[in-house]
Amino acid sequence: MLQQDLDGENDAIARYIARVGQAEELHMYHLAQQLRNILAVEQEHAMDLEQALGK
Ligand SMILES: [Fe+2]
Repeated sequence: MLQQDLDGENDAIARYIARVGQAEELHMYHLAQQLRNILAVEQEHAMDLEQALGK
């Protein structure tokens, strides 16, 4: 179950990274920054899960 949660977090992280790139391509820098903030939270979640899984 934790591994599934981690997989979900990693999927979300990959998607947010792609969205940040798209926002910057469109010169929507405020949106890109908001997405980065969300991305940082998702990365923290992934790190917490990795720690819980002993990785
Ligand atoms: Fe999350």
